[in-house]
Amino acid sequence: MISETQKQKPRFRLHPVAILNSQRLRRSLMDTYDQKSFYKYIIGIILLLLSIGSLFYTDKLVEELEQREEREVQLYAEGMRYVFNSPFDENFNVVFQVIQDAVNFYQIPVIYVNENNIPNPNKNIEFPANAGPAEKERIIQDKLADMKLEHPPIPVDLGRGRTGNIYYSNSFLLTQLRYYPFLQLSVMLLIGYLAYLAFSSARKAEQNRVWVGLAKETAHQLGTPLSSLMAWVEYFRSDPTIDPSIAEEIEKDVIRLEMITTRFSNIGSVPTLKEEPVTEIVTNFISYLEKRVSSKVKFSVFNELADEQTALINKNLFEWVIENVCKNAVDAMGGIGEINVTLQAPPNTKEIWIDIADTGKGMSKANMNKIFNPGFSTKKRGWGLGLTLAKRIIENYHSGKLFVKSSEIGKGTTFRISLNANIIE
Ligand SMILES: Nc1ncnc2c1ncn2[C@@H]1O[C@H](COP(=O)(O)OP(=O)(O)O)[C@@H](O)[C@H]1O
Ligand SMILES: [Mg+2]
Repeated sequence: MISETQKQKPRFRLHPVAILNSQRLRRSLMDTYDQKSFYKYIIGIILLLLSIGSLFYTDKLVEELEQREEREVQLYAEGMRYVFNSPFDENFNVVFQVIQDAVNFYQIPVIYVNENNIPNPNKNIEFPANAGPAEKERIIQDKLADMKLEHPPIPVDLGRGRTGNIYYSNSFLLTQLRYYPFLQLSVMLLIGYLAYLAFSSARKAEQNRVWVGLAKETAHQLGTPLSSLMAWVEYFRSDPTIDPSIAEEIEKDVIRLEMITTRFSNIGSVPTLKEEPVTEIVTNFISYLEKRVSSKVKFSVFNELADEQTALINKNLFEWVIENVCKNAVDAMGGIGEINVTLQAPPNTKEIWIDIADTGKGMSKANMNKIFNPGFSTKKRGWGLGLTLAKRIIENYHSGKLFVKSSEIGKGTTFRISLNANIIE
């Protein structure tokens, strides 16, 4: 049994300057995050403005080109009228050439339909190389139907009350130009997306290096004083004039420090995963934690897993995750309330769910999106690193998932750890 006095060990107090510095560092961590999303918005807005500008500009070009093409067709119609009305003109051929050149230059497809509804002649209509007269006829009828929807016909006065009509459609160039901005926009978005992927994966790789390096270094630096402390404990033990309970208490703390060092060194190397019994690990660790937090927090474990259910786990790191989540739960309840841990393996999934539910103050939807960001904390002395680390441990090292399953202000929060189950034969 641990007595009340032992439980209330003197709390380690940070020097006020250290507190100030830690808050400053935390704030700067958060600032980097806010800045990043700020830049994202700015770049997004610039891209949007560019695309809108490009759309408007091409639209103007399209409109202008459309008017120009219409004028060319009108000129063609005018030429036709001239040719039909003065068949013996000596300039006949020249005029005909000129009017044909106009539509040819812009590659505008035109079909002349005479007063008897016969579509002939046509210009700039493409036929397959081996098309027979029947197929050509069909193609012309199809085109004509399309053209009738596209532009109103331009009438050609043939004199003596007869009129023909010229139907036309936009040139290929104009059609291309019309769709160009959309093509441009898609290419721009695609490039933007690829660039984002490249940058964010580079950033993640860099973050990883920082984490891993820092953890390795910490473990390394803690190693030396720890072995020295161990030697001191042995020394105290061998001295009969020193109360043996002192050595015992110091040893407990040294063991605890060793555990922390192992965690850091595990983070700093590729951690080895072992097939571990999930229920046993969780239950044991919860009872270990229970003794170390306020007695006003009631822990319960509801186990629905088979005892032999295993998962690939790095015990040390996994326990760290449980500890982080539970400590946050205790904080959220102000040290009074219940923590319910449920273990289950839902059928038809190859997953094991470990739900950790508290009766704490819950969190807002807005905060729910931020709690896994490094440096996000709502606590006066929080570093906002616990959940970031926990998520990395579960997702990067265990290929599992860690997320907020549900949270309600004033009611409580449930975190879910999902691990890959080892299938029981
Ligand atoms: N169980 C919980 N209930 C309510 N809020 C929580 C809970 N767990 C985490 N949070 C919120 O997430 C934030 C980040 O948690 P964490 O990364 O562990 O950092 P820290 O504990 O240092 O604040 C906390 O400050 C808190 O606002
Ligand atoms: Mg925390």
